[in-house]
Amino acid sequence: MPTVSVKKTNPDGTVTTENEIEINVEKGLGIWEAFEAQGHKLPAGCLKGMCAACRVQVLAGAENLAEAGPTEKETLELVLKNKDPQEIAGKTIRLACQAKISGDGAIEIAPFN
Ligand code: FES
Repeated sequence: MPTVSVKKTNPDGTVTTENEIEINVEKGLGIWEAFEAQGHKLPAGCLKGMCAACRVQVLAGAENLAEAGPTEKETLELVLKNKDPQEIAGKTIRLACQAKISGDGAIEIAPFN
């Protein structure tokens, strides 16, 4: 069964496991939905892929998420175009309310502002 864990990134880019939450998830669920189903609240707004309040950095296991749909891609393009390119270089950013778990492996995420 796949797992998703929430970690925290420090300002210097290092990752901490302090207050880490890890859950077992069903394939096919969205990240936000999977946490909600187990009583954990991740940041969110519209839950429709439009506001990007739920954006996360995928630290590991991006291959275990289904490809972003058109709404998620459009919203991320709008949000990320205003970021410093160095800040997002090489990072996988997804919307937790839209990113569906599709693989069997571990996924690690961290909130991304
Ligand atoms: S909560 Fe609005 S895009 Fe996910």
